[in-house]
Amino acid sequence: SNQPMIAPSILSADFARLADEVAAVTGEPGRGADWLHVDVMDAHFVPNLTLGLPVVRSLLATTGLPLDCHLMIENPDRWAIGYAEAGSHNVTVHVEAANDPVMLAKDLRAAGAKAGLAIKPNTPLQPYVDVLKHYDTLLVMSVEPGFGGQKFIAAVLDKVRQARRMVDSGHLNLIVEIDGGINTDTIEQAAEAGVDCFVAGSAVYAADDPAKAVEGLRGQVEA
Ligand code: DX5
Ligand code: ZN
Repeated sequence: SNQPMIAPSILSADFARLADEVAAVTGEPGRGADWLHVDVMDAHFVPNLTLGLPVVRSLLATTGLPLDCHLMIENPDRWAIGYAEAGSHNVTVHVEAANDPVMLAKDLRAAGAKAGLAIKPNTPLQPYVDVLKHYDTLLVMSVEPGFGGQKFIAAVLDKVRQARRMVDSGHLNLIVEIDGGINTDTIEQAAEAGVDCFVAGSAVYAADDPAKAVEGLRGQVEA
């Protein structure tokens, strides 16, 4: 796989001080966060409620970091495009929620974003291989979506290995991303399974020095 990427999730940040919290993980290029992971929850697809397009617009105005928007929402076919048009780098929708994920990927790309497909821990990968040909990222959830600070589900690494094999053989062309429970204890097994991009929320923002936490995680998985 390529150089590992670290995507801090602002879900565990202080929402009243978001600009400062983003600055806290923004280092020199190649050192701080590669992407900023933004968890959008609608209290329907998942039980929790977070933030939406107005906050994403404000984030885009305050940071040069590429935004990695993870939409844990129902009817992404209707709502995802706005996040792409606003200027997000990557917009990820859940395969369990999308009505027409192939059309959605085409729309996201036409709006200038990378298209991401997320799968929950119990969702198999195999039925979606043809759909994934239209996507730029695959987000493998390693906790049930909805909350930060949960325990890593190692069983999802089988799906990471499957995806890694298909990418390495040229069958798919994807960034393989993992989200949930990534910390100093779990990141190495995820890297060994073939993850390219590591989302980390509580492991970064619960640390005294979030920038150092990003550096530490990267150091554990860098070649
Ligand atoms: C959970 C979110 C994650 C969350 C991860 O539904 O998708 O991005 O922020 O938090 P940690 O890293 O604490 O598991
Ligand atoms: Zn997420």
